[in-house]
Amino acid sequence: MPTFKLDGKTIPFEPGDSIIKAAERQGIEIPHYCWHPGLSAPANCRMCLVEILPKPGQRPISLDILELDKESGEYKPAQKPKLQPACYVPAAEGMEVLGDTSESVRKARHDVQEFLLLNHPVDCPICDQSGECKLQDYWLEHGRYQKRMRDEPVHKPKAVVFGPTIVYDAERCVMCTRCIRFMEEVAKDPVLDMRERGNLNEIAVAPGRQLEGHYTFMTEHVCPVGALTTKDFRFKARVWFLRTASSVCQGCATGCNAHLDYDPRYNKAYRYRPRDNEKVNKYWMCDEGMLSYKDAHENRVVEARAGGEALSFAAALEKVRSLFAGVAPQSVAVVLSARYSIEDNWALRELGTVLLGSKNVYVTGRPDGYEDAILIHRDKNPNTKGVQQLVPGAKPLNALLDDVKAARVTHAIALGGAASVDVEGLEAAKVVSIAAHEGPLTKAAAVVLPATSWAEHSGTYVNAKGMRQTAEKALEPQGASQPAWKVVAEVATALGYEPSWSKLREIRQKIAGGGTTPATAAAPAAAGSASAE
Ligand code: SF4
Ligand code: SF4
Ligand code: FES
Repeated sequence: MPTFKLDGKTIPFEPGDSIIKAAERQGIEIPHYCWHPGLSAPANCRMCLVEILPKPGQRPISLDILELDKESGEYKPAQKPKLQPACYVPAAEGMEVLGDTSESVRKARHDVQEFLLLNHPVDCPICDQSGECKLQDYWLEHGRYQKRMRDEPVHKPKAVVFGPTIVYDAERCVMCTRCIRFMEEVAKDPVLDMRERGNLNEIAVAPGRQLEGHYTFMTEHVCPVGALTTKDFRFKARVWFLRTASSVCQGCATGCNAHLDYDPRYNKAYRYRPRDNEKVNKYWMCDEGMLSYKDAHENRVVEARAGGEALSFAAALEKVRSLFAGVAPQSVAVVLSARYSIEDNWALRELGTVLLGSKNVYVTGRPDGYEDAILIHRDKNPNTKGVQQLVPGAKPLNALLDDVKAARVTHAIALGGAASVDVEGLEAAKVVSIAAHEGPLTKAAAVVLPATSWAEHSGTYVNAKGMRQTAEKALEPQGASQPAWKVVAEVATALGYEPSWSKLREIRQKIAGGGTTPATAAAPAAAGSASAE
């Protein structure tokens, strides 16, 4: 691989890499505002300027300048190296680049920083970007000067509503144009542009339009300062109180990698941010996905109930036991869910096919929906592939409805509240629903047992491309909920069986080792229990 030198360090690069990109790959940040790895490089902020040394025999590229002679108080002609934007200049074999080690570069960064802050309002105490703002970070690293400008700063529009989700503050904007380029290059909707010139510049929405669609939140995410804020997160939390878990979006089968930001003091999720993954979502997420962090709190099942009445977990298990007493295994069905993790589905498959010895395995999830060619998948479930891999022949939910109608199935244990089809008629069977969220299946169920959401336990999901991705636990379980695989184990015990798993680690080992507990290990317990009732 070809290399160049940055401040004496050898940096490998791929042909076509800019200096900044190659450095970033090595974990070295060259300060920047306008450059973003997923967008084109306009090289307009000048924060990334570096000094490129001439090769032996080459004439140095320099600029004629006037320098203040402090003794005489006069400006005298001088020369300084002409700096070049690291975000635009391609890396070349043998190139020698100076960043931190160049006096001229350090001065340029300091001056660009001072220039960008000339008219900047003192908004940090009320700005949502505070704590993760590039202007703050770079002032500390490259600025640290006393403000020299004594004039009234230029005032510009504040709190301009760009659309249903985004608010713009022109005074905070550094005109990096990332938001414009994102809408044009990624969202394919060039609805933003810049108007006016010099320090009257501001970002504007195309006349007659508003900033809307499926990717508006990303404009806020790419904004390096507090100029764009989402109505959803605005004034809700201070980022230094938030903790982050590596998560996987549950909104569709793309399985975008995400950071789930939550406040452990209130056990509350506050936002989703994209987690870079070149192979899945690159640097992006869609609006629906970004807002789906709310599912950690909304529409939740947090206590057990039977016949519409809340009751303790133990009492609900007792109900399950009496419901299933004496039922023949061939009349029992298990309904897996493409919305739940592999581990949860594995546990239910184990209970259904190995412990109970039933052959009736169905799968459900949310129905298909909107799709596009950018990120959003038609399949609105995060783990359809994972369930297919676990039980290749799992039948769709409407087959269960037919089997219930024909009395071939009289009892069912179902994961999740979501249903891919209308479940009218399902009440004819005795359904036990193990669910984190309310839905058609919890409505039709005789007994509902509360499960934790994806945000409250670690789980593995297989996306539409077949990639296994694990989401970390962020929140503590809410109400009486427990991970679904644990609830399934408790149901198994209540039915008189001995589950072969009691820890997530054990399930993962079994899945890695082929997936199924040998039927012989559990068959006696299954047979014994079924006949005992
Ligand atoms: S609003 Fe943000 S992203 Fe857009 S130009 Fe201004 S600073 Fe850049
Ligand atoms: S594309 Fe799908 S997985 Fe990605 S953020 Fe949107 S809903 Fe979530
Ligand atoms: S990052 Fe290079 S000029 Fe803005």
